[in-house]
Order: sequence, then C-alpha cells, then structure tokens
Amino acid sequence: MKQPEDSQILTRDVYGQLAGVVAVAELVERLGSFLELHELHYGHGTDNPRDEAYALVFSALKLDFADTDNIWDNPVSQADLRLVIDLTVRRISKRMPLPYLTGEAWFAGLGFRIDERALVPRSPFAELIKRRFAPWIDVRRELKILDMCTGSGCIGIAASVYLPHAAVDIVDISREALDLARQNIDLHRVGDRVMAIHSNLFESLDDKRYDLIISNPPYVSADSMASLPIEYRYEPKIALQAGDGGMAVVDMLLQQSAGHLNDNGTLIVEVGEIEQAVHRRHARLPFIWLEFECGGEGVFLLHKEDLPE
Ligand SMILES: C[S@@+](CC[C@H](N)C(=O)[O-])C[C@H]1O[C@@H](n2cnc3c(N)ncnc32)[C@H](O)[C@@H]1O
Repeated sequence: MKQPEDSQILTRDVYGQLAGVVAVAELVERLGSFLELHELHYGHGTDNPRDEAYALVFSALKLDFADTDNIWDNPVSQADLRLVIDLTVRRISKRMPLPYLTGEAWFAGLGFRIDERALVPRSPFAELIKRRFAPWIDVRRELKILDMCTGSGCIGIAASVYLPHAAVDIVDISREALDLARQNIDLHRVGDRVMAIHSNLFESLDDKRYDLIISNPPYVSADSMASLPIEYRYEPKIALQAGDGGMAVVDMLLQQSAGHLNDNGTLIVEVGEIEQAVHRRHARLPFIWLEFECGGEGVFLLHKEDLPE
C-alpha cells in the first residue's frame, strides 16, 4: 500500500508544478496533472484527479462552485497559490479526504459542514432527493420522513430542503455525529421541521411512524475494512463497518421498519457492495433496485406491505 509522502519534498514539487500559473483554469489543469502522479484514492465527493483539483482549488480560494463560467479566467495571486499548495500538500501527505481538510462537503447541490465526526457525504441518495423521490413517492402529501443512520445529517436535511412540507427525524447512535448534524440543521435553517434524535436504530423512537424511511447504514464487512485505502481510516469505523459480513444493520432495518411505517409507507436503503448478499439472504423480498443517472448502485426500495411485520 502507498504510504503518505514527505511534506517538505511535496511542497517543493507542487510549487515547481504550479509556478508561473496565471489563471484559475490553468491552475486546475496543472494541479490535476500533479495529483495524477500521486495515486491518491478518490471516493469522497470526486472520482478522478481533475475533479479533485477543481474541488481543491475552488475550496482553497473560496470560489463559487455555482458560478464556474465567470471564474476560469480569474487571475491567481501568490497568496492564492500558497493556499492551494498548502492544501495540496496536506491532501497528499496525510491522504485525508479533501472535505475533512476544508470542513465542507457538497451533497445534492447543497453545502454541509463536515469533519471526522461523520462520514463524508457521497451517497447516491443525492440524486433521488434532487428528483424529489420521483416516481416512487407522492410528495404532494405532507410527508413524515425518517433518515436512519444520518451521520452529518446530509440525507435528511437535503430531503427537507427539497420537500419544504416534509417533517424529518434524523437518527444516529453517535452523539458526535448528531452534534455535527445539528450544526447542519442550523446552517440550512430547517430546525422547525428537522429533529435530531439519539437512538440505537429504532430503540428510542417508541411508536413513531413515518411515510418514508431512508437510510445509508454501515455495511462494510470486517474483511473489506482491512483493504480500504488510507483515506477511509479517517472516517468513523462505526459509520462504515457492520457485523455479520456487513449485513447486521441492514438486517435490523428489514426486520423493524414495517413497525415504524404508516400504511402505504416506503423503505429505501443503500447497501452498496453487499447488494448481492442482501438479495441472496432475503430472496423472498421483492426488492426494487433503483437506477441512477449520475452513478451509484446498491439502493433498494420496498413497500411496507412487502416487509416482514
Ligand atoms: C454510512 S454512515 C451514513 C451517514 C450519512 N447518512 C451519509 O450518507 O453520509 C452510517 C451512520 O450510521 C450510524 N450508525 C451506525 N450504527 C447505528 C445504529 N445502530 N443506530 C443508529 N445509527 C447507527 C453511524 O454513526 C453513521 O453515522
């Protein structure tokens, strides 16, 4: 496995690569080429060196991701260059995911505060939320939604932003993650409709019921954990790993969700790489596996009447 690199040598190399850059477009281009040489792992918001360079430059220089058309020709000062070099060196030498270094992540077109208390937002749920769950959910109703295993709160909070009439409970077993989620509730000013609840799955939810339960739970097996790139070791283990070959939390969701769904309610769960294992173990359930235009797989949908009571 590739080990972190020495920061002094890196600073010299990246400075050499970027010296003389005059505009943002060229900075992103040259930085992308530099990142390519360093075998970083991309999986925390970008999936290639060029997009990582773009995210890194825009974050370091506090440029507007929504206004790219007008920014490419912006001049780059020496102070700008120092900010980009510093962030690049930290990204490569620590192999830390970029969002943990910048403190911000983008999800469903929205900005979220992020740090090592919670998983870096990256779920394909973002696309589903931007589509307002079409064609699966009738969003004309005032929906009650539960985001189980919420982490930073990204899924539940984004759902509340895209569905302004929904009431959303967001649940996590980690108090640290919930503190961060509360910061994100304040950031998006949705505190009147989004409530953070500390609970081990449904334990503290009594007889609360929802129209829609959405969840990106932990589902990585102990074996897979051992071979994950260094970047993933900065994320809370409890956010990634689940017992029983990654199936433990998903199994509980399948067993207990019906008791917390209203009639005609729906459960949607991301299970990523364990899709086949879930399918095999629960072969009798009529899973609907969702398709995504922007990438991502391993997300199933089940109606309440198809779930075990
Ligand atoms: C894969 S992360 C997902 C975070 C967030 N939903 C996202 O998509 O970025 C899983 C989350 O589940 C939480 N978790 C793990 N076991 C749990 C349990 N038994 N009850 C509630 N939350 C749990 C972890 O603390 C972590 O925040």
